[in-house]
Order: sequence, then C-alpha cells, then structure tokens
Amino acid sequence: MTERDERLTRRAEEIAAQEMPRLLERTTASKALYERAVRSMPGGVASSFQLGDPYPVYLQRGVGAEVWDVDGNGYFDFHNGFGSMAVGHAHPIVAEAVSDAARNGMHFAVTVETTVALAEELCRRFRVDQVRFTNSGTESNMSAIRVARAATGRDVIAKIEGSYHGHVDQLMYSVLPGADVMGGRDAPAATPKSKGMPAGLAEWIRVVPFNDVGALERLLQAEGDQIACLIMEPVMMNIGIVVPADGYLQAVKDLCTRHGVVLIFDEVKCGATIAEGGAQERFGVRPDLATWAKAIGGGAPIGAFGGRADIMEEINRGAAHQGTFNGNPMSVAAALATLTRVLTTDAYEHLGELGGRLSAGMDEIISTHDLPAHTVDLGCKGCISYRAEPLTCYRDFLDTNIHLYTASYPWMVNRGVFMTPGDEEQWTLSVQHTEEHVDRYVEAFAEFAGGLAR
Ligand SMILES: Cc1ncc(COP(=O)(O)O)c(C=O)c1O
Repeated sequence: MTERDERLTRRAEEIAAQEMPRLLERTTASKALYERAVRSMPGGVASSFQLGDPYPVYLQRGVGAEVWDVDGNGYFDFHNGFGSMAVGHAHPIVAEAVSDAARNGMHFAVTVETTVALAEELCRRFRVDQVRFTNSGTESNMSAIRVARAATGRDVIAKIEGSYHGHVDQLMYSVLPGADVMGGRDAPAATPKSKGMPAGLAEWIRVVPFNDVGALERLLQAEGDQIACLIMEPVMMNIGIVVPADGYLQAVKDLCTRHGVVLIFDEVKCGATIAEGGAQERFGVRPDLATWAKAIGGGAPIGAFGGRADIMEEINRGAAHQGTFNGNPMSVAAALATLTRVLTTDAYEHLGELGGRLSAGMDEIISTHDLPAHTVDLGCKGCISYRAEPLTCYRDFLDTNIHLYTASYPWMVNRGVFMTPGDEEQWTLSVQHTEEHVDRYVEAFAEFAGGLAR
C-alpha cells in the first residue's frame, strides 16, 4: 500500500466511524423490527443476502425511483432489488397487469396463454429457439446444467473463478473465495462456499479465471471430453462489474464448440438490463443456452432458461424439468408487461443516457480528487470499484480498497441514496429514474470524495 492509500484508508475509517452512529440513530424502527425478526428468522432476514451489520435497514414501500424505510426515511433507490427493478417501483403498467392476473385466478399449475406469449417474447428478444420457466436464477442455472449434462452425457461443470450462480450445492464453488483457499492462478481451487455441501461434489467442478482464454484452452485440452458445460456470466457482475476483453467471449464460444462443451451464459443479472437483447446483443456472441431471472419479472419471482432447440429437446427425451409454480400467471403477467410494455427499445436509450451521466459525473470526481477508483457504465447497471485500474478477473477484485466502500455506504445512505450493502454489488437504474436522481448520487459522492481528501 502506498503512503497515499494508507492516508485514504485512515480517513475512510474515520468517516465510517462518524457515519455509522448517524445511520443507527436514524433507523431505530429498523433496529426494533430486527429485534423482533431475529426471533423467527436466522439473522432476522428472509435471505442471507439481506443481512445487515449490526442490523439491516428494513424498507416499507417504494414508488418510482424512491423507497422509504420503516422509520419513514426516504431514499433515491440505487439498490433496486439487487438489479431486479429496472422498471422502478410500483410501475403502474406492471402493477395493473399483476392485479388483473390476481383477479383472474392466481395459480393453476397449468400453462396459460400469457405464458406462451412470454415464451415467444423471450425467444424473440434473446434470439433463442426455446425456453422453459423457473422461479429464480438458481433454478434456471440448475435446470440448464441438467439439460447440458443430458445433451453431452458428461458430468463435469466448468465455471469462472469468483462467480456466483445461485445457492444450489453444485454451483457454490469458488464464489468469492478467500485468498488463502483460492489456489494458484494456474490452478484455481474448487473451494466450497458453504457448510453443508457434500465433500465429493467438488470432483465435478473445474474453475478457470475470467478473461483468460489460455486457461480455458488448457482445461479443455486436458479434460474437454469430460466437461458437460461452461457456465459463466458474460460480464461478471458479482465483484462490481468486469467486462469481457475484446474477442474473449467469441474465443470461449469457439473453444466450447470445438470440444463439444455446452456454453451457458448466466444472464440472470445482465439479461434484461444491459441491452434489450442482453449480453448476447451487447457483446455479439450467442451461447448454446442462457438463463434469466431478476429484471425480466419486473419485481415478480420468475426465471427462465433456453437456447438451441436441439439441446432443449433433451427435456422431451428424459431430462427432468419440473416445478409447481413455473409459469405462475401473476409472475408471467408481470414479466410480459415488463418486457413488452416497459423495457422497450426507448427504455434502454433512457437507461443508457442516465448511466452515462452518472458515470461521467463520478469519473470527474474521481479524477479531481485523484482517487484510486474507476467506474463501469453499462446503462442500467454500473459501479464504482475502488482500484485505479479496471478489473479483469476475480483476483483483481482482491486489490480493491474495501475501506473506501465501507465508508461510502453509510455516507450515501445518510444522504438519501439507498445502495446495495456490499462492495461486490453495483448500482441499478430504473426507467423511472431521472437526471435529478442520478445527480443526487453524484452530489453525495462529491461530498464524500471531498471528505476523503480532507
Ligand atoms: C449471476 C447470477 N446468477 C444467479 C443468481 C441466483 O439468482 P436467484 O437469487 O434468483 O436464485 C444470481 C443472484 O444474485 C446472480 O447474480
């Protein structure tokens, strides 16, 4: 660490020490709700991603680009449901579609006409032959892997070091691994992320770094005939944002094709956010299968996977794909309204302009204060990472200065900017965000950067 980095870190620690007590003072109702919630739920939350230290800020409602917590504090929302709410909160078109569907019968476990229409829209938008529905990103990835294994008759799964693809056992390997357990750069370890996973499962997992064609080539040359699929986010979105180097995704596709490995793009986060046609459109590479969830539902729990018809055909040949709530009419109605009436071509233009404005504002501040940081802008999604040079893979993320993020979180929240809790995440804009919202983010960050420099 340079002398300047050490000074910034010390200043960040001072800021965090001032801002956290302020945050706790403003959120006494969250504290009370937490004390109630821990009695009925571990950690007082519905999912461990919602944990907070010492307690989370609990929200009560959201409209447009704003949310209110249980203390009544209002925020401009850049957390946006971990990237699910590209439509913004309580969007009238989505809300109406859901309430109409609810009045029409909430669930049948029988395919309805709107499910067919949604399947058609996903095929059109993401240029795939066929899709099936699930209830989450985790389920979509589980199902895509089952189909890939069936299609290839192989068992091994390859994944990218550091990536998260859901909480199912077989994908919880090398997810943000600690430096002490991640293995050497040439042979990243399949480290389990959770207790309670069968030890033998690691035998079926191989790990390669992002943006490293050579490492993938070596793996496939050695073991390609055992590997069913490579599952990867085409743009890594769980360590801030790491974009693929020019030509990387095409090289990955070519290698997978050569070795008969099914390439699965996990577009759970990037699918309906970074372009109308997702990463496939933005980066111009089509995988064999892709998976979606989060933003496609406009806030409703829904996921999907799909791709080449000859691979999806495995479902008719004995690859089990089931689920009582798959294609639930309310979720389908929300997703159909979201994709066909809200996240339209114009919406991506709006998101692109806002994202550009936000990151340009942030870049100027970073440069004025010469901060060891950079931004990434993909329209609806973007981030600041506290490292001067852009990240190329997970190991670069370990070089970011977490203290700067840790100080920025309470600083921004205390100034009415609701952020994701964790430096792995990024901001999400919605179609209901305006320049005013984005400018508030930039202004609050400018004060933070000034505070760091003091
Ligand atoms: C890239 C990616 N894949 C899969 C998942 C799992 O999705 P879900 O939480 O809907 O199961 C996530 C969740 O954050 C994700 O970011």
